[in-house]
Amino acid sequence: MQRGSFSGRIGFIAAAAGSAVGLGNIWGFPYKVSNGGGAIFVLVYLIICFAFCLPVMLAEIAIGRASGSNSVGAFAKLGFRKWRGIGMLGIIAGLLIFSFYNVIAGWAFGYTLEMANGNFGIADSFGAFTSNVVKIGIYGAVFMLITALIVTQGVSGGIEKASKLLMPALLVMIVALAIYALTLPHAMEGIRFYLLPDFSKLNGKVIMGAMGQAFFSLSLGMGALITFGSYVGKQENIVSSAVIITLADITIAILAGFMIFPLLGFITNGTMNDIPQGPELVFVTLPHVFASMGEPYGTIFGTCFFLLLCFAALTSTVSLLEVPVSYLVDDWKLKRRSATWLVAAVIFVMGIPSLLSAGYSANLTNFIRYPNHEKHTDFLSFVANVANDSMLPLCGSLIVIFASHIWRMKNMDAELALGNPTYQGSLLQRYMRIALPYIIPFILLFVFFTTVYKTFF
Ligand code: PFF
Repeated sequence: MQRGSFSGRIGFIAAAAGSAVGLGNIWGFPYKVSNGGGAIFVLVYLIICFAFCLPVMLAEIAIGRASGSNSVGAFAKLGFRKWRGIGMLGIIAGLLIFSFYNVIAGWAFGYTLEMANGNFGIADSFGAFTSNVVKIGIYGAVFMLITALIVTQGVSGGIEKASKLLMPALLVMIVALAIYALTLPHAMEGIRFYLLPDFSKLNGKVIMGAMGQAFFSLSLGMGALITFGSYVGKQENIVSSAVIITLADITIAILAGFMIFPLLGFITNGTMNDIPQGPELVFVTLPHVFASMGEPYGTIFGTCFFLLLCFAALTSTVSLLEVPVSYLVDDWKLKRRSATWLVAAVIFVMGIPSLLSAGYSANLTNFIRYPNHEKHTDFLSFVANVANDSMLPLCGSLIVIFASHIWRMKNMDAELALGNPTYQGSLLQRYMRIALPYIIPFILLFVFFTTVYKTFF
């Protein structure tokens, strides 16, 4: 059976940037900036994306393209069957991420409808909203359905096409919303918090937070880019593509900040005191801001904002679904359509405990109390702690160790040089030769052990 492929470089970039740009950029990044002390977090984040994440991205894409296989089969195709376990670990992480990601996407979808109806009061009943499990379950199911429909259409006819449509739309919307936000009173105080770093706030927590956020935001560590890389032609320049994907992801995250911090300046009358530092920023605080804009601006801004969030989430869920589907199609010879519906159904069911853990079920809402933590953690956050915070760095470090020590740098270099004759001998190549084998895996393992120890023990 013929494997799918992207129609060209733009298709690959749109799909991979679509995977990267997601809830992590628009929902996650701003509250993590707020939590991490503002601009200093942004600065550390930018450095980490280029110095640390770009090499990992290059390794993943190179493994994918060299093998022309899914994230599990890739290791076998390159001649190292025993290393397939890394791919399996990535797939499990992806399934877990998708299971709760879809619930949050369902919230975003529901909020789009509420905002379109001018129901800003939803912010005060966020708990009641998320515990209405029938409604959210339906929103989540619709979201999953749309994701699966795109994936059944294949690589160029589904994933690429959807990304080429949604990504430009997303860019236009976010720029328009940011421009409007910047015209509001006290916008500049928000921008000052966002852009002027206070170096006294720099500490290990900020660095670890930025590292985790960057890794998740760039969709690293679970084989998404191995899978997408396997659909890229040998003549394409994957090095410059990876740079563009990284830049696109950063740009959208930064633009999300340009949209949200002026809003926080506006709602706090410029004091920036007590701004929310958690996931409630987007779902609780922003609707208040929209309400205070007056009509029709509030409804328009609110609806566009949550629609933007849905678009961003959709191109990411598509990639989350493609990873296991690609594995089942390549290695188990399932038809794309059957594989897609099978995985979509399994993930939807896996997401049910997360769906119930936002207020509906007391046991799942107060699922676990980690040692030395005052409050209980809900099931959804628990899964995020296991998959995003722990499994991604672990799996990422194993992928990097594989690429640099097992498959070896010279093979990776040769792959990266295809379609990019200037790569050999370049500064980037020389940097990769040191960072990839000797620095990055150990930092990732350090992040893994520290996170596991600090969170669970
Ligand atoms: N990068 C996505 C985001 O920032 O929301 C999340 C994600 C998608 C992670 C796909 C991993 C992945 F494979």
